Amino acid sequence: MDKILVTGGLGFIGSHTVVELQNEGYEVVIIDNLSNSSIEVLDGITAITGKMPTFEKIDLKDKLEVENFFQRHNDVKGVIHFAASKAVGESVNEPLLYYENNISTLVYILKELKKLPEASFIFSSSCTVYGQADELPITENAPVKQAESPYGNTKQIGEEIISDTCKVTPSLKAIALRYFNPVGSHESAKIGELPIGVPQNLVPFITQTAIGLREQLSVFGDDYPTPDGTCIRDYIHVVDLAKAHVIALGRLLKNKHKSNYETFNLGTGTGSSVLEVINSFEKVSGKKLNYKIVGRREGDVISAYADTTKANNELGWKAQLTLDDAMRSAWKWEQIAKGR
Ligand code: WQD
Repeated sequence: MDKILVTGGLGFIGSHTVVELQNEGYEVVIIDNLSNSSIEVLDGITAITGKMPTFEKIDLKDKLEVENFFQRHNDVKGVIHFAASKAVGESVNEPLLYYENNISTLVYILKELKKLPEASFIFSSSCTVYGQADELPITENAPVKQAESPYGNTKQIGEEIISDTCKVTPSLKAIALRYFNPVGSHESAKIGELPIGVPQNLVPFITQTAIGLREQLSVFGDDYPTPDGTCIRDYIHVVDLAKAHVIALGRLLKNKHKSNYETFNLGTGTGSSVLEVINSFEKVSGKKLNYKIVGRREGDVISAYADTTKANNELGWKAQLTLDDAMRSAWKWEQIAKGR
C-alpha cells in the first residue's frame, strides 16, 4: 500500500488520522517536532492498530531537513499536513511565531512535492476562515472573511499558497479540509486530546473541571442572540474527522477529484450551544459540572455550523458519531489520561 507522510502525526487530529490510515492499510511515516505532542502517543497508536508507524523527529522549519527527508523517502505518495501552531490567543501575542511556523513549513513541503512526478496533499484548514458567516449553515462558497487572528490568517494564506501552486503544477493534487470543532477521543481511550497547560478549548476544559484539575468552567457569555444566549458551534467527533481525511486522500490517489484544488467543510451540520455541550457532558458522565457565566471572549463568533452537502455528495462521507458519543469518549479519555 502507498506510503503516506503525516506531519504533526502525534497531535490530536493527526494521531487519530494515523490510526485510520493504518486501518486502511497505508504505510505511515510521521514527522513531528514534539513541540505540542508527546512521544507516548506513538505507543497509543501502536496499541490500537498493532503496527508502529515510522516516526522521525524533524522540525519542518529546517528547510534542509525537509529536503533530506524527501530524498530518503522519495516513494511518498501523499502528505497529510497537520503540523502547525493552533492556539488562537497565542497567535495574537506571537504573530511572527505563527507566520514562520505555519507558512514557511507549508512552502518547504510544497517545494518538495513539486519535484515528484505526482503528489496528493491534504491540508488541515479551519472553519475559522469564514469568520462570522452571514448565512448559516456555512457552505464552501461562503466568503472568506478578514481573519480574526494571525492563526486564522495563516489558514487563509495557506489555502491561497496551495491554490496558487496547484494552478501551475498539474502533478500536484490538493484538498483543504475546513474543520469545525474537533472533539472527543478514540473509543479505546489510548489516544486523545492532550492540551498543554490551561486548555483554551471548551471540551478539554469541561473534562478537566469534572475530574478536578480545574476549579470551575467559565462560560464566556450568555447574552448572544441565540436560543439560550451562548455561542453555537459544530462539534465533530475526531474519529469522524480522521475518517474524512482517509477518504479525501483516497479521492486524490484514485484521481476522483474534479479539480486539482478542492475545499470541503467537515462538520456534523448541527449546531450546539455551550450550554447544550455542558448538558450533554452531564448526561453521559452523570456528573454535575461546576461552571459560571462570565463576560464574552474577544473574537468569538456567535454561531458557526457546517453545510455538509458537498462532503456528503462528493466524498461520500457523513459524520456518524453524536455529541453524546464525543462527550462520553472525552470523559473516558480524561479519566484514563488523568490516571496516567
Ligand atoms: C467553543 C465555544 C467559547 C472555552 C477554536 C479555534 C478554531 C479551532 C477550534 C483550530 C466558544 C466557549 C470555550 C471556555 C467557553 N481550532 N468556551 N469557555 O473558539 O470555536 O474554535 O478551536 O483549528 O480555529 O478558533 O473553540 O472550544 O475555544 O470555544 O465558554 O473555557 O466554547 O466562547 O463559544 P472555537 P473553543
